[in-house]
Amino acid sequence: NIFPVIMAGGNGSRLWPLSRVLYPKQFLRLEGDYTMLQETVRRLDGLSCSAPLVICNEEHRFLVAEQLRAIDQLAGNIILEPVGRNTAPAIALAAMTALAKGDDALLLVLAADHVIRSPQAFVAAVEAARPHAEAGKLVTFGIVATAPETGYGYIRRGAPQADSGYAVAQFVEKPNLETARHYLECGEYYWNSGMFLFRASRYLQELQCFRPDIHAACAQALGNPSSDMDFIRVDKEAFLACPDDSIDYAVMEKTRDAVVVPLDAGWSDVGSWSSLWEISPKADDGNVQQGDVLYHASRNNYVYAESALVSLVGVEDLVVVQTKDATLVARRDQVQEVKKIVDQLKQQG
Ligand code: GDD
Ligand code: MG
Repeated sequence: NIFPVIMAGGNGSRLWPLSRVLYPKQFLRLEGDYTMLQETVRRLDGLSCSAPLVICNEEHRFLVAEQLRAIDQLAGNIILEPVGRNTAPAIALAAMTALAKGDDALLLVLAADHVIRSPQAFVAAVEAARPHAEAGKLVTFGIVATAPETGYGYIRRGAPQADSGYAVAQFVEKPNLETARHYLECGEYYWNSGMFLFRASRYLQELQCFRPDIHAACAQALGNPSSDMDFIRVDKEAFLACPDDSIDYAVMEKTRDAVVVPLDAGWSDVGSWSSLWEISPKADDGNVQQGDVLYHASRNNYVYAESALVSLVGVEDLVVVQTKDATLVARRDQVQEVKKIVDQLKQQG
């Protein structure tokens, strides 16, 4: 049995001003009719699996419940974290919750904020990963690396496995630029997509082995879970005491039992406005727009108009994002620097 676990607790600050602390990117409708969280759920349609579990910060509980209900998902499966402690603890809570129900399921761990163009290719990769996970492996889905990105984990492929995938020879989370360039030249590296498939008990074994402190804190936090309405809540004090770490550092870099299954499905983690422009279908003039937008003699722009008409005349390669209380205008090749604005805002309080 495959049990999807959707991690939705991040804050996505690189998509400011749309993405905010109270409304991070996974809850946004960046294109089309559905939010990123809803797309993540809908992508599971072709897979035979149980209803997904969503794990998020408690301040987003109504947002999540409402978005699930809007696509006819029973919203009974939501774990609320009183604070974010990153993905290693979040997945531990999910694994322990599955086991507590007597279900040592294969957890399909997904990020709520990725774009995947081909749901069929995604489902095929999960099916290819299933036998490895059933055999006790921790499977990650690898994307062919095409640039020396430093925001990703890098996976060196080892021995080919029966049918599909490779043993993971090395896993390095977020290397520096020089190292990333070296990996890219070497040609044997995949990016870690940040999605995983493994048996709940197997993940917990490895966590117990490498980070017993996180394992213990999560077990404590779930000691007597309360559930009200649709939500599963954990003990605040115990979870506050949990160390903060990602699955990538806490487990994937350390385990010797990982397998990488290649994923070629038009994947993007939409890390910035320019990556959103890159992956979007474009008009002949190269413009991508959402909302009420008019152009004249303008090319290769990304424009998001939330609540007003935005018009562009004679400009190229810009990102323009209009929201009710903030507007961003940036060169498309410099949108990574948006975080400098977010930093300035934080300083101002
Ligand atoms: N519930 C919960 N709690 N979810 C969280 C938390 C948390 O404390 N922190 C992050 N998440 C969610 C985010 O919303 C996102 O969906 C997912 O977990 C991954 O977290 P990110 O913070 O976006 O990780 P990253 O992008 O820096 O790195 C990961 O993804 C890359 C691919 O996009 C790593 O797995 C990298 O190795 C990988 O290359
Ligand atoms: Mg991410």
